Amino acid sequence: MSSLDAASDQTPQDPQLLENPLYAKRTERARADKPPSRSTPLGAVAASRFPNTTSRKVLEQHILDEDEALVAGSFGTVWYKPVNVKGIDLKLEPLQPSIGTVVHGLDLARDLDDPDVVAFIRQLWLERHVVAFRNQSHVTREQMVSFVEHFGEVGMPFGEKDHVPNSPYDLNQQIKDNEIPNMLVLPSDSTVPNAASGWHADATWQRKPPMASVLMCREAPPIGGDTCFCDCFGMWEGLSKQTKEKVANLRAVHIGGVGHQQDGKTPVSVHPVARTHPETGQTSLYVQQGFVRRFADEHNMSEDEQRPILLEMKLQEGRPEYTCRLKWEPGTLAMWDNRCVLHSASGDFWPHRRFMERLTILDFDEDRRVPYYDPSHELPID
Ligand SMILES: [Fe+2]
Repeated sequence: MSSLDAASDQTPQDPQLLENPLYAKRTERARADKPPSRSTPLGAVAASRFPNTTSRKVLEQHILDEDEALVAGSFGTVWYKPVNVKGIDLKLEPLQPSIGTVVHGLDLARDLDDPDVVAFIRQLWLERHVVAFRNQSHVTREQMVSFVEHFGEVGMPFGEKDHVPNSPYDLNQQIKDNEIPNMLVLPSDSTVPNAASGWHADATWQRKPPMASVLMCREAPPIGGDTCFCDCFGMWEGLSKQTKEKVANLRAVHIGGVGHQQDGKTPVSVHPVARTHPETGQTSLYVQQGFVRRFADEHNMSEDEQRPILLEMKLQEGRPEYTCRLKWEPGTLAMWDNRCVLHSASGDFWPHRRFMERLTILDFDEDRRVPYYDPSHELPID
């Protein structure tokens, strides 16, 4: 077999994928030597790198040749804050001014047995919204569950226990780990590329969306596949005064995708547009246009009225100033606050492989699980 045959004959990252109709369909596309669809970023980025290549095999080989010379290494200066927590020396590397910190020096399999360390990480997470840890490859799936249990209740793959999607048209639900049924496994290879690109918070189409999500990288592309995170407090603050006043008491409709269907029914929930963070009291913009298409029917707003407001909100999504970008390495684990953070996988890494594992976390306090807006916490709009 020549290397050019690699894509169509590649074995899947997990044999369970062979049962998946979506996997079969995309494998067929690979066998027909058609590049990944340019209607997804994975295909668009590949086409942008080599625009005149119509053969998938040739395109794949061009990209692999170009990326082959990459080596892992580090150089340059990184700013970090040194801290000592219960005798452990940590380096806190901020990714962006308002969001994201990489914590260096912690062993998640061992160091969180100390409740003071857990309290430190929780406080840091509340302040920074996203925390990430490097060099955690040794942490098993079971230990990931133990990690999550320090911060909340382990959720089902999509949060609450009463909604278990069973759509066959989703690759991510097809790999089951019977020991860890709450885990969502996220495969991607050259035959069937897959990335949750597009700004969203996880499962906001649930009535009680998961408080947080945890993602572990087991296999990382040498380039691309970063996850970007967007600070929804910044998104709220960035809206115009008029818009804030207009939308502060509106609610929006969050609609799940086809892959989130349970018994053929699409999940839908209505949530406030401005959301009060139940632990810090800060207001965030709780509209992610991955799942939101319109405001609630109770407001009787015409499409013409809704469109410019949704557009203004959309323009806040992913602004560089509110956004940090995490480059994955095998063994990087990140935890983010779904109540005030959007995320988007960067679908730019085809034909490289990427393999991730996700857990969701529900708030220990059941009364705080349903999103709400409490204007008494709000600073006057200026
Ligand atoms: Fe997600």
